[in-house]
Amino acid sequence: MDDERIVSGEATGTDEEIEKSLRPKRLSEYIGQKNVTDNLKVFIDAAVMRKEPLDHVLFYGPPGLGKTTLAGIIAAELGVGFRITSGPAIERAGDLAAILTNLSDGDVLFIDEIHRLNRSVEEILYSAMEDFALDIIIGKGPSARTLRVDLNKFTLIGATTRAGSLTAPLRDRFGVISKFEMYSKEELEMIIERSARLMNVEIDTESLEEIAMRSRGTPRIANRLLRRIRDFCQVRGDGKINMSITESSLDALRIDKLGLENLDREILMTIMTRFKGGPVGIDAIASAVGEERITIEDVYEPYLIQSGLLHRTQKGRVVSDLAYHHLGLDIPDNK
Ligand code: ADE
Repeated sequence: MDDERIVSGEATGTDEEIEKSLRPKRLSEYIGQKNVTDNLKVFIDAAVMRKEPLDHVLFYGPPGLGKTTLAGIIAAELGVGFRITSGPAIERAGDLAAILTNLSDGDVLFIDEIHRLNRSVEEILYSAMEDFALDIIIGKGPSARTLRVDLNKFTLIGATTRAGSLTAPLRDRFGVISKFEMYSKEELEMIIERSARLMNVEIDTESLEEIAMRSRGTPRIANRLLRRIRDFCQVRGDGKINMSITESSLDALRIDKLGLENLDREILMTIMTRFKGGPVGIDAIASAVGEERITIEDVYEPYLIQSGLLHRTQKGRVVSDLAYHHLGLDIPDNK
């Protein structure tokens, strides 16, 4: 997948560095996801009062919505260490054992893309999460024995774009399972305003609104657009972000009024022109636009569905009247 897409929710190398500096550090600075944070606040307070580690937490939802950020905040609120890794980065059971045995009492271990852990690694996690112990098998055949190694107590925070891909035994070991929702326009405006302040750049209200509308409900995209517009502003403008520079930058980046970029429009157009508006299966769409099925499902579809341009039905994907309208096509009579 092309990670450099301006509207991709996935993090790029530069994103990671700049994101770190813009990231809120405490719960009081974190905007949005109220359902998630209200509950967590209670669980964090209770854990602190009991002097026990917080129960294991699973975050799921589309990329770029602040799962890693919130995990870091939880560690800060608990006053414990924070260790980050990801499913694909842990190749062997021994890698995970090394991480787990190095945790201090109460630490938060964050595993991003936890649905991508391989089986043998995942199995180690079961006893680690449940009993804070590792069962290590020594030797082979009839003389093989298991050796139990105790671990410090810890909180695992797992993040995934797809809760459905987690195996049942892993999912069952999380005491808290929270779904991340896309952000409202008002929440995104607050996030962009905060980021602009931290980046020391002036921006007017209209521009804040315009960027928020084109950020597909995703703070990572909002912050990325803000940085690109700041570049245009620095080179072609007078250093202040206004509507004229915002609109011309977004047009130059080929991001339309709803935040769609080329491939989003291509997906909708393909369904309209080649599949009569649907219903059509996801595999047919993926091969028609030359993208992987899971990229379409995880990265493109959530926003197309959220914004009412695409519907998912039993028989397949169907574009809405709004999509015809947005792309300037007539709604066919037989719909
Ligand atoms: N930056 C990125 N996500 C954020 C959030 N949810 N709150 C505040 N700042 C953010």
